Amino acid sequence: MKKPLIVANWKATKTIKETVQWIKEAKPALEKINSADIVICPSFTSLPFVASMFKDTNVKVGSQEVSKFKKGAYTGEVTVEMLDGLADYSIVGHSERRRLFGEDDDDVIKKVKLLFEYNITPILCVSDLLQTDSYISRGEIIIEKSEKIIFVYEPPSAISGGGAYRPDNPEDVNLAAGKISEKIGKKIVVLYGGSINPENVNSFLSQKNIDGGLVGQASTDPKVFMDLFASIKLGGMVD
Ligand code: PGA
Repeated sequence: MKKPLIVANWKATKTIKETVQWIKEAKPALEKINSADIVICPSFTSLPFVASMFKDTNVKVGSQEVSKFKKGAYTGEVTVEMLDGLADYSIVGHSERRRLFGEDDDDVIKKVKLLFEYNITPILCVSDLLQTDSYISRGEIIIEKSEKIIFVYEPPSAISGGGAYRPDNPEDVNLAAGKISEKIGKKIVVLYGGSINPENVNSFLSQKNIDGGLVGQASTDPKVFMDLFASIKLGGMVD
């Protein structure tokens, strides 16, 4: 199996002070990891600091969001141009953005297009197969650039909440990830997201159609995050 890609989604959990502490605890060990490719997605306020700390290392940095607007009178927005030089990746279409902030598939397609203009890799969340169809029908870019998109199959019901992990069944996830690839019609990268933790990570990564994970809760505590990589190594997931 190829090296899994592990993307940390800190969500809205860290102040600058907490970010500094996380980096202090995790950075030395993260830089030694070769059992996985790693992307850290902090909040916008922590992004410049995290980007500077991991500059020229094996650890890449991404944003959790990006504006659908390019530039101008859009109070509060963080545009793709502002991410240039700070982020190599950006999560788009997360179900929390849809549910809580009213984002829709058209918004997501606009963001994907803007990201490609700046060579930032979209990490595109897909809640279900219907949504995959919807993306495909809305923008040729999804098929055209599919080999450069990181797809994430993330059923909203599997996302951890209230401190509890409630992952999906790995076999079901594998089937769904396979169907997403079929719909796209090309070899694509598909991650699974939803309650991944050090105990269950290998049950997902060992599935044929799953190339890595989008990790929320388990990435916010440096110790738990490092345990995740220890599990991956022990599980012998890497060739
Ligand atoms: P979780 O979050 O790992 O806490 O379930 C994943 C995500 O929503 O990106």
